Amino acid sequence: MCGIVGYVGRQAALEVVTAGLRRLEYRGYDSAGVAVLADGVLATAKKAGKLVNLEKELGERPLPAATTGLGHTRWATHGAPNDVNAHPHLDDAGRVAVVHNGIIENFARLRAELEERGHRLTSETDTEVVSHLLAEEYSACGGLAEAMRLVCRRLEGAFTLVAVAAEEPGVVVGARRNSPLVVGVGQGEGFLASDVSAFIEYTRDAIELGQDQVVELRRDGAGGPDATGGTGGADGTGGAVAVTVTGFDGLPAEVREFHIDWDASAAEKGGYDYFMLKEIAEQPKAVADTLLGRIDGSGHLSLDELRIPPEELREVDKVVIVACGTAHHAGLIAKYAVEHWTRVPCEVDLASEFRYRDPILGPRALVIAISQSGETMDTLMALRHAREQGSKVVAICNTNGATIPRESDAVLYTHAGPEVAVASTKAFLTQLVACYLVALYLGQVRGTRSGEEIREQVRELSGIGDAVERVLETMEPVRELARSLSSRNTVLFLGRHVGHPVALEGALKLKELAYMHAEGFAAGELKHGPIALIEEGVPVVVVVPSPRDRAVLHDKIVSNIQEIRARGARTIVIAEEGDEAVVPYADHLVRIPATPPLLQPLVATVPLQVFACELATARGNEVDQPRNLAKSVTVE
Ligand code: M6R
Repeated sequence: MCGIVGYVGRQAALEVVTAGLRRLEYRGYDSAGVAVLADGVLATAKKAGKLVNLEKELGERPLPAATTGLGHTRWATHGAPNDVNAHPHLDDAGRVAVVHNGIIENFARLRAELEERGHRLTSETDTEVVSHLLAEEYSACGGLAEAMRLVCRRLEGAFTLVAVAAEEPGVVVGARRNSPLVVGVGQGEGFLASDVSAFIEYTRDAIELGQDQVVELRRDGAGGPDATGGTGGADGTGGAVAVTVTGFDGLPAEVREFHIDWDASAAEKGGYDYFMLKEIAEQPKAVADTLLGRIDGSGHLSLDELRIPPEELREVDKVVIVACGTAHHAGLIAKYAVEHWTRVPCEVDLASEFRYRDPILGPRALVIAISQSGETMDTLMALRHAREQGSKVVAICNTNGATIPRESDAVLYTHAGPEVAVASTKAFLTQLVACYLVALYLGQVRGTRSGEEIREQVRELSGIGDAVERVLETMEPVRELARSLSSRNTVLFLGRHVGHPVALEGALKLKELAYMHAEGFAAGELKHGPIALIEEGVPVVVVVPSPRDRAVLHDKIVSNIQEIRARGARTIVIAEEGDEAVVPYADHLVRIPATPPLLQPLVATVPLQVFACELATARGNEVDQPRNLAKSVTVE
């Protein structure tokens, strides 16, 4: 939800900031804006719509050259996505410019107070109160960082803020509460951003900020108050940039420095038309990377990252999975694996509903929070609730140092690399792999599965990357089929057992990318109502379980296919190689490699991703940035 960049250094700030916004545009793309600080004056440009509109505006009306600046790409919460509500927001005198990600919950009261004191606010946003409050505090204390600390103490809600002040050239200040902000430390330059991809082109050295912290980046010789207690900085041709981090209370804060282990090319499209296509293609590697280092030479699992002693894991009496969207579907699949391999009951909750149902938790419940971004507010709140109830939380996350892993007792990172397309693909497959690893590990520690059984599953998992590769090589007919359906209004998805969450995931992908009515059902549920949706020609995708060791389920789903076909459905059947029983009932047959039943989602989901991506393209939709969405959902 909203991408933020701040820069101070030796390069043209506008170029650095807009390049960063391009990389962060996946976070929100309702409007974009920038501010630069040149000769003691703040100059801004903002435009509704995608970044390209802002770039056009900047081409027509260039901003002055500057080496300090900030920018924002928005996912609207308060106020329509128009030019006025676009960030940055300035106070009435134009002394301070602010960009914001999150929601300031007490903004209405703060706004009323400001208006009473004679401030004139022009936008409908919650953010604008911050620029006015900062300007007031700045007048009183004379320093932007101190003004930020004072203002943050008065704000309620979740926020990342980045600000510059006309009277402090060479200084950028940021603050965070429940919303992401990282610092990039370059040679004579410093960056603030919602995520590292914004500055990966310039530096791979970063600092992770903690909760309720304020950071000041100050270029050597910049005017204003002294930067004492600097925690970092780098020399370069343009002098050093000192990085000072404190709590909202002004006390020096501990920070964690880290090195980013992927490079700029990983965040580029690499010759593909869309990030989503690239990310689908990267799945075999992502799956293999997520297994790396977690299996020893004898096929034994070693998940040192779990950091929960085996004796505690043996005491676990319930596993609870919390997640949203695609990650929730990964959780639904994980439930089958956890219960089958460990015989421990497993519940799966939508994170946004979790704490409101007053779940029964405690020290023996193991909670698994799954999140690609590690910043999803609903999941973060669910995990906090679980920890308050005394449960241990393990995060499965793709983003190093994000809030969710930081607040969990342990984390198992998926190694999918940066996922930029809003629609989740490789993150989903790697979340599944991580869930399988946790479930097998629990089975290993608790002794519910024999060493040989675990080794066998691990062997199968290790071969999945190749199986996904084989699926990807046979996708042309799926793309052709998708194009032929581009004028349809509805597509239904059916599955049984682990195929049911796969059907839900297929429907979600189609909704978010093709803007079509798409629904996933448990095939057995159809006769309890949804079968009324079937009419002549409705495309129905059916995920068929293996006939080898799921004979009963397989027979039942073959009957379900016949039931819908008899009512006019056009059947698109996803079945494993060698399954001949489905052939007579499939209007379109998509073959997937045979896998053990629990692992089938790793291959069965891939055609559905390709199908949705191609349908979106055929309908002329934006594949990487579907309407109304954002990659990282940092509001509840
Ligand atoms: O970053 P997270 O995994 O926590 O995100 C959860 C969902 O918002 C996300 O999976 C969403 O459903 C995807 N856009 C679906 O493709």
